[in-house]
Amino acid sequence: MGVEVVVDGLSKSFGKQTIWRDVTLTLPPGEISVLLGPSGTGKSVFLKSLVGLLKPEHGRIVITGTDIVRCSEHKLYDVRKLFGVLFQDGALFGSMNLFDNIAFPLREHTKKGEAEIRRIVLEKMEMVGLIGAEKKLPGEISGGMRKRAGLARALVLDPEIILFDEPDSGLDPVRVAYLNQLIVDLNAQIDATFLIVTHDIGTARTVPDNIGMLFRRELVMFGPREVLLTSTEPVVEQFLMGRREGPIGMSEEKDAGQAAAELAALRAGGSSGTLGGPKGGGGTGIVPQLEPTPGLPIRRAVERRKDRVMQILHTLPPTAQDAIVNSLTREEQQHYGVFAGATQVQPPVQTATANHGPRPTPYPRTADLPQTEWQPQSGALTADDAPAAAPEPGRKRGWLRRGGEK
Ligand SMILES: Nc1ncnc2c1ncn2[C@@H]1O[C@H](COP(=O)(O)OP(=O)(O)OP(=O)(O)O)[C@@H](O)[C@H]1O
Ligand SMILES: [Mg+2]
Repeated sequence: MGVEVVVDGLSKSFGKQTIWRDVTLTLPPGEISVLLGPSGTGKSVFLKSLVGLLKPEHGRIVITGTDIVRCSEHKLYDVRKLFGVLFQDGALFGSMNLFDNIAFPLREHTKKGEAEIRRIVLEKMEMVGLIGAEKKLPGEISGGMRKRAGLARALVLDPEIILFDEPDSGLDPVRVAYLNQLIVDLNAQIDATFLIVTHDIGTARTVPDNIGMLFRRELVMFGPREVLLTSTEPVVEQFLMGRREGPIGMSEEKDAGQAAAELAALRAGGSSGTLGGPKGGGGTGIVPQLEPTPGLPIRRAVERRKDRVMQILHTLPPTAQDAIVNSLTREEQQHYGVFAGATQVQPPVQTATANHGPRPTPYPRTADLPQTEWQPQSGALTADDAPAAAPEPGRKRGWLRRGGEK
């Protein structure tokens, strides 16, 4: 099983430029998490911080009991061996053929003999569908093949944690679909902890167990996929729908008043807003998660995640609770002592008196939440960050602050 990555109060700046501050999240062992965010919000900086290539000024990153922000170089070297990283551009050596590129970490970090190296390299090349291409140079193969070669290289040291920086960029939609399936299949086979940075909404909607989002130097959300996918936050909706209108601007820093005016016009039907559309097909709402190819093992993380999420269910927003409960089988609902009742499956009203008094709560809902795993962790978003437009009736302002204000 992959290892847990605990990020606590992490902040990173370059000179006077704050990239993000007070980022807190936990990557659950063996689960697939996705990190979204507009360009330039520091997603790649975050991945580089996780492997210790960049040093955040504040906070901790705890992996197998070691805080890699403060540990010795020697200790960091050890912890790094747990990681496999697929960089944004594949980062292959142009003068080495694919075999030697993929063998590189084994030759560099282990004392294995050539026969064993050959066995491991061919096994990983087979996993990513590259058998037969051992002698090709990176310049002689397609972008999709380079990504898969980068992935094979990330796998050779049997990592417990794999970081993917935009594995799908530059690929056509069919190749993205294959790559997504490959990621899910790999997770089923090796049960490592995955973190994927992507701009592809189709990937974000179908691959991960958990989704987070960076925006305006904050981690605005992180938690079970159902939280972000059912969120009505303007920034989340804008991102998932690939709209121009909303808080995200071309340079990221859109004026809050302008964002509010655009959203108001959009809601009044003044603009389609989705010229070009989002990468990977936009949309909000839950779609089924990809499953491993038939014949492969099941993802062990799925059952573990179910137990984990059911423990924090009462801390999640009602829409996410409903989506999670509705995704369970009847047996699972019985097992966890919940039933789908809030939106989709309403208990029939038997008598006139049944309408009196509040309907029984199908599972615990907490009005005033303490700080929880899925909430924006820094709590620093203020009313100024949200559009000034009045919320629709019955719609809660979803930015949660530290301390639980809704
Ligand atoms: N080594 C560095 N020194 C100084 N500034 C840096 C360094 N690396 C990144 N930055 C700055 O940090 C910010 C975030 O960069 P990063 O590459 O993490 O963005 P990103 O979210 O990955 O964007 P994209 O989606 O376009 O890949 C940018 O303003 C970038 O210029
Ligand atoms: Mg990047």
